[in-house]
Amino acid sequence: MSEKILQLSSMGIKFGGIVAIDELNLEVNEKEIVAIIGPNGAGKTTAFNCITGIYTPTSGDIYYLGRSILNVKPERITALGIARTFQNIRLFKELTVFENVIIALHLRYKDNLFTSTFKLNFKKEEEKIKEAEKLLKSQNLYKYKDEISQSLSYGLQRRLEIARALATKPKLLLLDEPAAGMNPQETNELTEYIKRIRDEYDVSILLIEHHMDLVMDISDKIYVIDFGKLIAEGTSKEIQNNDKVIKAYLGEEENA
Ligand SMILES: Nc1ncnc2c1ncn2[C@@H]1O[C@H](COP(=O)(O)OP(=O)(O)OP(=O)(O)O)[C@@H](O)[C@H]1O
Ligand SMILES: [Mg+2]
Repeated sequence: MSEKILQLSSMGIKFGGIVAIDELNLEVNEKEIVAIIGPNGAGKTTAFNCITGIYTPTSGDIYYLGRSILNVKPERITALGIARTFQNIRLFKELTVFENVIIALHLRYKDNLFTSTFKLNFKKEEEKIKEAEKLLKSQNLYKYKDEISQSLSYGLQRRLEIARALATKPKLLLLDEPAAGMNPQETNELTEYIKRIRDEYDVSILLIEHHMDLVMDISDKIYVIDFGKLIAEGTSKEIQNNDKVIKAYLGEEENA
C-alpha cells in the first residue's frame, strides 16, 4: 500500500467572519500528482498557506506522514520535507541562476552564508557547488547558470523556482500555478518536466493550475473547490464529466 503523504481532515479557515475554506478533505499519496482547481478566489492558495504553516487553520487538522503539522512553524515544515513555489514567482531576481540554487542548499544545511563563507569550510562548500550543478543539469538549466535570474524567460524562471524548491529535498512539492503566464509550448514542456520530477526525485506533487490541458494530462486525482468548498473529486475523466464542475469552472473557462 502506498504511503499517505498529506491529509487535510475537515480543514477550514476563516478570516474575520469570512469562510475562505470550509471542511476540506484531501489526500496526497506517495508519488501521486494531485491537482486543486477552482475559480479565482476559491481558496486554493489559502490551502497552500495552511499546509506550509503561514496560516493556522481555524478548524480541522493537517497530517503530514501521519503526524499533525497544525502548529508547526513554516521553516520547520520546509525542513520536514514540504517545499513550494509561489503564484507570483519569488526568486532573488538580481542574483544568478546558480546563486539562487546555492542559497536554497544553504537553507537545507541549516547554516547561513556568512558562517559558511568565513569559516572557510571548503569541503562542505565544494559539496554544495557540486550538488547545485547537478540539480541545474538535471533541470536543463545549467547553461544559464551565470545569467541573472530576472533576465531568463518566464518559463525558465518558473523552472528555476522549482529547481530551487527541489534543493531542499522535499517529499512533497506544492506548485501554485506553475504554468501561469506560459505560452502553449512552455506549458507542454512543463507538463513533461513535472512528470520527470516526480519520477527522478521520488516526490509527491500537489499543484494548483488553471491550464486544464496540463491538469487533465498529469493528475492522478483532481479536487475542485468553489467558494472554499469541495464540489468534486476524482480522475480527469470523472471531473470532466461532472455537471457541478462544468457549471462552476469549466463552463466559465469556455465563456472566457
Ligand atoms: N490573509 C487574508 N485575509 C483575509 N482574506 C484572505 C486572506 N487570504 C486569503 N483571503 C481570502 O480568501 C479567499 C481565497 O483566496 P485565495 O488566494 O486562496 O484564492 P485562490 O483560489 O488562490 O484564487 P486565484 O485563482 O485567484 O489565485 C479570497 O476571498 C481571499 O480574499
Ligand atoms: Mg491563488
